[in-house]
Amino acid sequence: MTLTLRATALWLAALALPTVAAAGDATRAAFGKLPDGGAVEAVTLRNDHGVTARVITLGASLQSLTLPDRHGKMADVVLGYPAASTYITQPQYFGATVGRFANRIAKGQFTLDGKHYQLPINDGPNSLHGGTKGFDKVLWTITRVSKGPAPSVTLRHVSPDGDQGYPGTLTVDATYTLDDNNQLTIDYRATTDAPTIVNISNHTYWNLGGEGSGSVLDDVLTIPADHFTPVDATLIPTGEFRAVAGTDYDFRQGKPIGRDIRDGKEPQLLQGHGYDMNWVISRHKAAKARLVARVADPHSGRVLSLYSAQPGLQFYSGNFLDGTSVGKSGRIYRQGDAFVLEPQIFPDTPNQPAFGSARLDPGQTYDNRIVYRFSVEGAAH
Ligand code: GLA
Repeated sequence: MTLTLRATALWLAALALPTVAAAGDATRAAFGKLPDGGAVEAVTLRNDHGVTARVITLGASLQSLTLPDRHGKMADVVLGYPAASTYITQPQYFGATVGRFANRIAKGQFTLDGKHYQLPINDGPNSLHGGTKGFDKVLWTITRVSKGPAPSVTLRHVSPDGDQGYPGTLTVDATYTLDDNNQLTIDYRATTDAPTIVNISNHTYWNLGGEGSGSVLDDVLTIPADHFTPVDATLIPTGEFRAVAGTDYDFRQGKPIGRDIRDGKEPQLLQGHGYDMNWVISRHKAAKARLVARVADPHSGRVLSLYSAQPGLQFYSGNFLDGTSVGKSGRIYRQGDAFVLEPQIFPDTPNQPAFGSARLDPGQTYDNRIVYRFSVEGAAH
């Protein structure tokens, strides 16, 4: 009897222990202040393998992701800043949710139901990633934090009618879920109260060797796409669907990112200062998420497999990282020190009838589910 009582008491005490190191955890904490005084919060998700994902309310951004290598050694594999304010003073879209319209809209102009709209011009003559104050630069509200085997956090942002020139009040939810298969899922959902255009993606910069560890050009990238959409000198698609066969853009069999990147014969690589292009995974959105890219780092053995139902994939080889940003580990980020993979509709879709439609009407729900699956491969060397 005494023993049983004692055992029960111990068991209850164990239940009451802090859950910091427990499986399926989600913890909320302050992350620092913006130059305007705004307070940024962070939610850190942890699964039962010790993998962690930290999401901050500024831009609903993925601020860190720690993963084991083939020996079980953990490293943070996404680029970012240690201080909240640097995300504003040296913006790079690190980990950010980009919208309302990820990627470029030519001259920042489009027409919807006969009405002309002008967006802010912030990239040469074009509008990039939602304008001068896109989703990456606003504080989102945490609406739900959940623990359990697949901890998650949901953040909301309500973009008012006319925000950055876009019509309709857009209500956007971003849910990050980390499961015990080492899979991070981002669910973007949006609704509107008036016809509008939407294209939301995530702009995480990956370095599977660990942020600040150097170049990603040895990483072997596979993109299962037969075509890409070539661009003009301002990185706006020309409207052509060009076969990847015989070009530097053929990643169908998998090849190191850097193998052809210095190929002076390819004007498209010159225009983008490296890879900065949309691959056509399919002409239309798929019924469900399928593999859109795979990246394997031969040094650490870490592998990222990316799934989405979106028709397009922007692959950007960190060309504009110019050695002026100091990251989380105090190391400088230079050109080619990360890659970005953004599942989305094709750039400039509102002005390119052959690309489909970016339209969202009241009563419809926009959704973009992005799944990052992490694994390791290869023998030790
Ligand atoms: C996207 C664009 C790039 C660049 C980055 C941010 O990936 O396609 O050209 O603007 O965002 O630096």
